[in-house]
Amino acid sequence: MRATELLSTSASFLIIALSTVCFAQEAEVIKTDPLTGLFKDAEENWIQVRNNCVACHSARMLTQQQLSKDQWLQAIRRMQAKEKLWDLGQAEERILDYLSTYYGDTGDKEGQRKRRAPLSQPPLPVEDS
Ligand code: HEC
Repeated sequence: MRATELLSTSASFLIIALSTVCFAQEAEVIKTDPLTGLFKDAEENWIQVRNNCVACHSARMLTQQQLSKDQWLQAIRRMQAKEKLWDLGQAEERILDYLSTYYGDTGDKEGQRKRRAPLSQPPLPVEDS
């Protein structure tokens, strides 16, 4: 009798534990866009970022950064001056809000990127076939 009770109690615990894990994973999938890895915010500003910032490079180029709003603005201006990024119009403010909120300056200098200065060289030559 006690053995059966013990068994059914352990089985219930196991089911509860497993469903918690499943729900947690489901919540994770909903919060992050599986294609870009961008955090899906309630305001849906991430869509502006997806539409404007992942045409030339992966969203990892953004999500690995921790920049202040001002630094994000500088990054956008540099994209426009050097990489032919178009005028973002009204999307710019939403993109800046989004990036500085979810990929903002955390004050964690250790966690912030340590990157070499950008290369300023022409693209690799295309081989003749
Ligand atoms: C037209 C192409 C293009 C678009 C669109 C574009 N980028 Fe870039 N971006 C580049 C290129 C090319 C590089 C790599 C060159 C480099 O590192 O200097 C880059 C690199 C970056 C980097 C890394 C720079 C560094 O110093 O580590 C950031 C941050 C960035 N882009 C932000 C953005 C944001 C934000 C947007 C959208 C508003 C955007 N990019 C849209 C071309 C683009």
